[in-house]
Amino acid sequence: MLSGKRILLIVTGGIAAYKTPDLVRRLKERGAAVRCVLTAGGAQFVTPLALGAVSGDKVYQDLFDLTDEQEMGHIQLSRDADLLLVAPASADVMAKMAGGLASDLATTALLATDKPVLIAPAMNVRMWEHAATQANLETLKSRGVGVIGPDDGDMACGEFGPGRMTEPLDIVQAVIDFFSRGRPLAGKHALVTSGPTHEPIDPVRYIANRSSGKQGHAIASALAALGARVTLVTGPVALTDPAGVATVHVETARDMLAACTEALPADIAVCAAAVADWRTADAAPEKMKKDGKALPSLSLAENPDILAALSTGGDKRPALVVGFAAETEKVIDHARAKLAKKGCDWICANDVSPETGTFGGDSNRVHLVTGDGVEDWPQSSKARVAETLAQRIADHFAAAAQSVDQTSE
Ligand code: CTP
Repeated sequence: MLSGKRILLIVTGGIAAYKTPDLVRRLKERGAAVRCVLTAGGAQFVTPLALGAVSGDKVYQDLFDLTDEQEMGHIQLSRDADLLLVAPASADVMAKMAGGLASDLATTALLATDKPVLIAPAMNVRMWEHAATQANLETLKSRGVGVIGPDDGDMACGEFGPGRMTEPLDIVQAVIDFFSRGRPLAGKHALVTSGPTHEPIDPVRYIANRSSGKQGHAIASALAALGARVTLVTGPVALTDPAGVATVHVETARDMLAACTEALPADIAVCAAAVADWRTADAAPEKMKKDGKALPSLSLAENPDILAALSTGGDKRPALVVGFAAETEKVIDHARAKLAKKGCDWICANDVSPETGTFGGDSNRVHLVTGDGVEDWPQSSKARVAETLAQRIADHFAAAAQSVDQTSE
């Protein structure tokens, strides 16, 4: 079942680490090759000797161990794996992963990898439920990290609730499911735009908006998780590039259009970027100075509409073009009008009034407007919205393929 699969198991600090030799044994029984990285915290609960004995391989512990680095550099460790599995994943390692820290061998390997990552969290129930851990969890999910558990149950600390590491056999099943999961978008190229654009006024000032890029980046991850080859064209954001996604960084709307055109052909385009509608007609070549007299005035020019350009792209038009509509009132009416005006296939309409917290926040409420009607999706995390949209896109292509089959029968 896992024959030929190479798993890098990262064992972090937590009482559940004592179960990891059993986990290694079960993964190996199913044909996987398992190599272990043990953090200093993990080594308090399980010995390198035990993990080495069951994995049949050296256990890697120290980023600054010259022997380790000569035998197998931290980059090579993740390069040689098909999957990185963090079990148990402590609150600390989740926070470090979310924050992009590389303070030891485990976190360095996790930051350096472009391979899929699954985590099996294990911690005290209060730590699990803490807003910081939940925010880190959402960040990790939005970057495409898969999460196994945690389970409910009695804990070593005497409390009861969610936070117990999923049992080794169930983790093994999740790994098997991961490898055998249908990748319905395999063979498809998806182009996703994300974030704001920055339109220069002069070399230090620019026009921008409040978009964080969280929704667009999560969509890129979710499409990649379903097997699509994804090109993400992003404006300036404070997010790390999603794993397994080719990311192109741009500043202005015109750069974004050029990068999107360059990325074609694509089967799917999802325009989630909050592209600035206007740019300054003539950005000043040097920093503008106050001269104490007349106030400067900006003369604006309209930016190209990337969604409309992709939707009317002739034979280069992606088979499915999805836009977003950021509205503060009459959300559905405006979304319907945008669908018609821009010529795209679907619009994800969302209310971005300040009280909704959508811009910059972690959750979103989407109404999917298509030629067939409106679907109201529940308020959920941006990661969840992204998964729903990616699955909806996969279903659309599956239905289209089926109708072609029936016509040709
Ligand atoms: N969009 C785009 N290029 C632009 C403007 C918008 O690709 N120059 C895309 C966005 O990525 C989104 C959709 O068009 O998918 C709608 O964006 P939105 O900001 O809601 O609407 P606008 O077209 O800018 O119209 P308005 O600001 O008047 O609501």
